[in-house]
This record gives sequence, structure tokens and C-alpha cells, in this order.
Amino acid sequence: MKKIIIYYFSGTGNTWWIANALYLQLKGLKHPVECYSIEKLSTEDVIKQVNEAEHIVLGFPVYGSTAPRPMLDFIQQFPNATNNQLISIFATHAMASGDSAYYIGSFFTRKGYELNQTEHFVMMNNFHLPKFRFYKPKNDYRLDLRLQKVLPKVERLAEEISNNQKHIIGNNLFGHLLGGLQRKHIDKTINKLGNEFKVDSKQCIKCGRCERICPTHNISMRQGTYQFGNKCALCLRCYSQCPVSAILIGEGTKNKTKYPRYKGPGEDFNINILIENIK
Ligand SMILES: Cc1cc2nc3c(=O)[nH]c(=O)nc-3n(C[C@H](O)[C@H](O)[C@H](O)COP(=O)(O)O)c2cc1C
Repeated sequence: MKKIIIYYFSGTGNTWWIANALYLQLKGLKHPVECYSIEKLSTEDVIKQVNEAEHIVLGFPVYGSTAPRPMLDFIQQFPNATNNQLISIFATHAMASGDSAYYIGSFFTRKGYELNQTEHFVMMNNFHLPKFRFYKPKNDYRLDLRLQKVLPKVERLAEEISNNQKHIIGNNLFGHLLGGLQRKHIDKTINKLGNEFKVDSKQCIKCGRCERICPTHNISMRQGTYQFGNKCALCLRCYSQCPVSAILIGEGTKNKTKYPRYKGPGEDFNINILIENIK
């Protein structure tokens, strides 16, 4: 059975959930499979792992029809294929994903990988801010319904990966038009909103969680309060996971009913999972 490695980045848990479900499915199909959060890996680790794998899988959340910055940096460092390895790309999103997975796949075809599957999974929205009101994140039974709905698609993807069955989505005119349009604006949006993060010092309990979980190490305690640098990837992990919702992105987000924080998928979800590897 071919060896498969899954790499993922997840800001608030959705992509982790799919990566983990896919990992379990592929294991059930008797493949040797490993699953890694990209946050803990060195380039040397990845080179060694890729050399030993026949099939690579990459997962990320859609941010304006492309991947988050930590994932884009990871891809840039990613080694060239050594043995025409196959690659599958999956993306999680809330509403509109354009050609995201196919667009990211094209970076890998240029590195010598053979693009075998691209897939998009509709998950719970985590992006509901003043001026960006998609729809409110739900932390109740509706989240479980969404996870149940998406599971058969994960099972199908696992079968396709296992059987080398090609399945490409997003490579069409509509996908490219929507994707291209969204990608034009996303950097500006991330930079603008990234500068609006601040801590409500009346609410903050100084637990240090935000500083510990930030994937870009952009948060530090200075002059008695948490301050933000200029490396924010807008993953919303700190915003969603602050135990007292003291992190604000604009004054409007003080209203926690109007702007509820997304707490992540499933009752078992715990933020520490995101910064540790599945296996
Ligand atoms: C900065 C940002 C941009 C986003 N852009 C899109 C988008 O263009 N289309 C979409 O459908 N969802 C978008 N979303 C929603 C996320 O893609 C979606 O909730 C995803 O499943 C979150 O995955 P995660 O929990 O692994 O971080 C965006 C979220 C963020 C934080």
C-alpha cells in the first residue's frame, strides 16, 4: 500500500477536522499514513518525509480563494517531487471558494507533482466581522449537522486517493474568474484587518492563551497588555479562542451576540490539537 502524508494548516479547527477524518479513513483503508500540522515542521523534516512518500495531501482554509500566509510560505519552501509523487489538495470554506484548491495545486505541478484530486468542503463560517458579515458562526447542533453532511465527501476523497482516481474541481471559467477576483483583494483585507486587532483590557484576564496559540507569533505582552505586531495572518484563532472574548477587531466586536466567536468543530475539539501533530 502506498505511503501517504497529509499536511494541513487550520486557523480555527475546520481544516484540522477534515484532515483528521481523512487520516482515519486512509488508515482504515490500510495505508501507512501520517498527518502533520505545518506549524511544527522544519524544512529538513519535510524533505525527509516527502522522499519517503508516494502521495502527498495538503489542506487549508480558503481566504479569498487562496491559502493563508503560513501555508503559502510552507508551499514556497516545499521540495520538488523526487519521484513524480501524486498530490491532492483540499480546502475548507464557508460559501465561495472559486478555484482555490486547483490554484494551489498549480504550485505543485510546477514542482513536478502530479495533481490527482482537488476538493472543497463547506464548513462552518469563522469570518463574521463588521463589514464582513457572511453569516454568524454557530456553536450548536447545526455544527454537528454540517460535520455529518461533510463526512461522506471525506470518505469519497479517501477512496479516490487510495485508488489513484483522478478528480479535479475548480478548473473552469467560473472558478478562475471568481478566484482571480477574490485574490485581488485578500492581501489588502488581511493587512487592514490585521491592524485593527486590540485587547479589551477591561475584559482581559492575562491568561496568555492568545500569545501561545498564535501561528505567526504575532502577539506579545508589552507594557502590561497584549500587543499585536505586523505578521497577522487573520486566521482568527486568538479572536475565536480567547476565553473571555477580549480580543477585538474593531469596536463593534465588543458585542458578542452580534459577533459570536467560532469555537471550533465538535465537542472533542480543543485548541491545543491545532498546534500538535495528529500522529
Ligand atoms: C481571512 C478569512 C478569509 C476567508 N475567506 C473566505 C472566502 O473567500 N470564501 C469562503 O467561503 N470562506 C472564507 N472564509 C471562511 C473560512 O474559509 C472557513 O470558515 C474555513 O473552514 C475555516 O477553516 P479553519 O477553521 O481550518 O481555519 C474566510 C475566513 C477567513 C478567516
